[in-house]
Amino acid sequence: MNDKDNELADNNQGDEPLSNHSDNPHFSSILEKRLSRRQMLTGGLGVAVASMFGLPELMNKAEAASNAASASKFGNILNTPYAMNPTLGFNAVPVTRSDTVTIPSGYKAQALIPWGTPITGSHPAFKPDASNSGADQEKQVGAHHDGMHYFPFQNHPNSHGLLVVNHEYVDQNITHTNGPTLIDGQRPDDEVRKEIAAHGVSVVEIRKDPATKAWKVVNGAYNRRITAGTPMEIRGPVRGSDLVKTKYSPDGTETRGTLNNCGNGYTPWGTYLTCEENWAGYFVNRTPLPREHSRYGVSTNNGRYRWETAQGGSDEHIRFDASEKGSHATEDYRNEPNAQGWIVEIDPFDPNSKPIKRTAMGRFAHEGCWVAPPQLGQPVVFYSGDDAQNEYIYKFVTKARYNNTVNGDILDEGTLYVARFNEDGTGEWLALDINDPYFRAMAISKSVFFIDQADVLVNTRLAADVVGATKMDRPEWGAVHPESREVYMTLTNNSRRDGDTMDAANPRGPNPYGHIIRWREQGNRPWATKFEWDIFVLAGPESDSQVLPELGGPALTQDNIFASPDGLWFDQNGILWIQTDMSGSQQSSGPFGNNQMLAANPYSGVIKRFFVGPQDCEVTGIASTPDGKSLFVNLQHPGDRSGVNSFTSNWPDNGKVYAHPGDPNVVASPSGARPRSSTVVISREDDGVIGI
Ligand code: FEO
Ligand code: CA
Ligand code: CA
Repeated sequence: MNDKDNELADNNQGDEPLSNHSDNPHFSSILEKRLSRRQMLTGGLGVAVASMFGLPELMNKAEAASNAASASKFGNILNTPYAMNPTLGFNAVPVTRSDTVTIPSGYKAQALIPWGTPITGSHPAFKPDASNSGADQEKQVGAHHDGMHYFPFQNHPNSHGLLVVNHEYVDQNITHTNGPTLIDGQRPDDEVRKEIAAHGVSVVEIRKDPATKAWKVVNGAYNRRITAGTPMEIRGPVRGSDLVKTKYSPDGTETRGTLNNCGNGYTPWGTYLTCEENWAGYFVNRTPLPREHSRYGVSTNNGRYRWETAQGGSDEHIRFDASEKGSHATEDYRNEPNAQGWIVEIDPFDPNSKPIKRTAMGRFAHEGCWVAPPQLGQPVVFYSGDDAQNEYIYKFVTKARYNNTVNGDILDEGTLYVARFNEDGTGEWLALDINDPYFRAMAISKSVFFIDQADVLVNTRLAADVVGATKMDRPEWGAVHPESREVYMTLTNNSRRDGDTMDAANPRGPNPYGHIIRWREQGNRPWATKFEWDIFVLAGPESDSQVLPELGGPALTQDNIFASPDGLWFDQNGILWIQTDMSGSQQSSGPFGNNQMLAANPYSGVIKRFFVGPQDCEVTGIASTPDGKSLFVNLQHPGDRSGVNSFTSNWPDNGKVYAHPGDPNVVASPSGARPRSSTVVISREDDGVIGI
């Protein structure tokens, strides 16, 4: 989801409104006290670290690596024995507002599966004037690419696989030839059908041509569209609950569609996880809101796209009106929003499989879902963030233990926890379990009552309020280090921080830049209930940023200034890839240029800008072939501030797909092509491993 500007507040995009009015403490006030304590403990250490961090850019690689190792003795307060210490073997690309993809010398890039690419059925071609019908869209790649995973085929894993891509939302100005239509307060059926079909997930078989090295779509049987209308099964503790019974599913076991699919995850048993983020705004409820609607911000006026007003009045459209209309929940769609906000498991290798909503993992504005490296005989652990201002960080620990035969059913039983960050650098995972004594005591003390665990899960945010979780600055992506199992998570920004919730140690108020936090579980066991944490980087301009602030690390430089970190991923060499989602105004008026992707060595704190996207896009979603030689990156909403037939980007259909810095051949589009979200495949011209 794009990061909303004030200027876009009346557009159909953006994030959900603040809905956490609990009195739980803010992370920022905790950080202030933590930093004060650490400064006392470390004394003059910060000066020594700062001087070391300033050096690597001036040295050759060997010296830089040596320096990185020594810096880490101070730079990593979690004392991680990293064996992975990747050298970032490329020259940083500069800040730019070019309407193209900018990558380092020695690299090349290819646009792949842009919105509208035909993949199933009659394979209807994309029409540049966006005149494709809803039926066409159901056979084409969706819009607004986001989280993504590459599932390799065993025989040729590095050149043949399934690319599974989330489609978060639509920009109606771009989706339709002349923008959205509203006639007497109603939307035309086919426009609604097209928008629903542009949401969801695409499963696309792709193959690398051995001669040209270019990736191509294979029109095979695995290709599949899952949309905001696809039938899905509800599993886990909420299955059969009164809270999900509807006219469509009177026994509360099924629903239709997945909404606002943002970040993603994958499982050790080879399935994809798509995550429902800002789903609340798709619904309207004009009758009194129950807590499971109000705490998530369900609208009382109109659905975001007014799908509920579709002219034909069909059941699949009026379900977006969650107002009480009948005498019982099975006569209307008052519970339809309760079937959204979950993690959805998809088997990409079985095109006939029904997607499954795994309700034990909680209901909130899921950014994504990231598994810790699984260990035989131990629980499997997934981390997830709730991307809204002042919301929380969660993890799910399976009850059953991991072995090589487990499948997704392991996700139906386990414990959902929420994080509390303590002032002294420790943290606790608090169980959201109706049978947990602390949870029960806290609920009673706050006069909050839950009928059963299904009620707890449908009201996950309220349950987290009850136990005193720490309010965070919009948790976006997480990433688990493949070796150390440390967890990194982006906190993208929080414009609603005020005087009471700001602090001197995070002295930016309002803070539009965000930061990256990291933690290590006690005993290096992902299922532990205690952890230690620190800050990896405070993002921002050179004048207002810092790597490893608790240790006096350096400010960011022209080689790595960034803001609003969002996507995050570790590759197999231990490079931490950071993707940004700066707002349109932050891109146009700030020092950061267009949204970008950076590579970081988490061991040394060295960060370099690797990639800059075209105008008004967000860089989000990343995956790789197993050999690390083809890197898939998604560019969402190029031309985000476009009007109807007035585009602020023409990527990727006009001009060059990529450019090297200073390339004189990059020119503005002569014909004003309609911008399209797309995957980009990055590779090295010498066919080497990306990044190192
Ligand atoms: Fe869909 Fe929080 O970004
Ligand atoms: Ca974002
Ligand atoms: Ca995001």
